[in-house]
Amino acid sequence: MSQTTQPLHFARQPHPSPVAPEQRAELLRNPGFGRVFTDHMATIRYTEGKGWHDAKIEPRGPIPMDPAAAVLHYAQEIFEGLKAYRTADGGATLFRPEENARRFQKSAERLAMPILPEALFLEALDQVVSIDRDWIPEGDGSLYLRPFMFANEAFLGVRPSSEYLFIVIASSVGAYFKTQADAVSVWVSENYTRAAPGGTGAAKCGGNYAASLVAQAEASRNGCDQVVFLDAVERRWIEELGGMNVFFLFEDGSMTTPPLGGTILPGITRASVLALAKDKGITVREEPYSLDQWRADAASGRLREAFACGTAAVLTPIGTVKGRDGEFTIGNGRSGARTEELRNTLVDIQRGRAADPHSWVHKVF
Ligand code: PLP
Ligand code: COI
Repeated sequence: MSQTTQPLHFARQPHPSPVAPEQRAELLRNPGFGRVFTDHMATIRYTEGKGWHDAKIEPRGPIPMDPAAAVLHYAQEIFEGLKAYRTADGGATLFRPEENARRFQKSAERLAMPILPEALFLEALDQVVSIDRDWIPEGDGSLYLRPFMFANEAFLGVRPSSEYLFIVIASSVGAYFKTQADAVSVWVSENYTRAAPGGTGAAKCGGNYAASLVAQAEASRNGCDQVVFLDAVERRWIEELGGMNVFFLFEDGSMTTPPLGGTILPGITRASVLALAKDKGITVREEPYSLDQWRADAASGRLREAFACGTAAVLTPIGTVKGRDGEFTIGNGRSGARTEELRNTLVDIQRGRAADPHSWVHKVF
């Protein structure tokens, strides 16, 4: 897969009739997650033999597609998710966007797609955040950026497409879960798994999420906010949630998170929490943790807290765990002090309210 190295110029086509400021203010009052979209998008095309070309910032709108476009048949699609934050000085920042660029490249490799150079990925993000800066909510909100790429060749044979479209859209968001301050409940899926060894679990591809929906629906039917997946081989080890990684906090002050072994997504929030915990002198283990142990540790009180983490969820405490064999509660079923402390440390760095010792913050303007 070729890697174009020369920089691309983004042609700017500003929206002829962007959303009016009063209407935007109304939309930003309570945006929820993933429903409010900005005026523009970035697009870059790829064609075999020609490489990356035709970079644009243009009005956000429908994409004309041939019904034979390969993505509609064989799901050759990958995506990313990261947030832009408004800073106190009126600027905007991104959190570790080069990590998203690298993960996007790894996902592309797994899905037999072309590698988008990191600089182009970052430039597309910066351009969208700059042109749609008025869409970054004040306060606790942020601008969720969704870079994605799909196979756009009209061809029904099963092989990697020769044409792709990379797009960045942006959505003004508040909290992912309705009850941001409260702990969420999770359903342990024993009927469905998310990823098998050798599969696409470590890639951020749409197909992984399509496969998780029936398990997420089962979780909802059982009154839970999210699904927890077990490993596909032994159906014993906790892997991750449908869209988040997971951490366990113990009475001796230590923490555990499942190891990256190819079947879970290498979360950037997960990596950041690991680094911050080490900074704080907390013992952190990346090691397998079983459902049986989870239940036993919650019952004995050895497990004090657990949280889900990801770009959308930030750090969200897990209060209740339900499954085929009944349910159990972690701690008092609400958020714990250590989860709150880690969350605040992370969010303060992300929002520029605290020093950035790891140089994670990328200034857009
Ligand atoms: N795991 C899955 C399956 C996800 O979809 C996400 C969200 O992107 C994460 C984990 C967390 O990754 P990150 O912290 O990079 O957002
Ligand atoms: C993210 O956190 O960016 C995700 O992709 C997760 C999804 C549940 C929105």
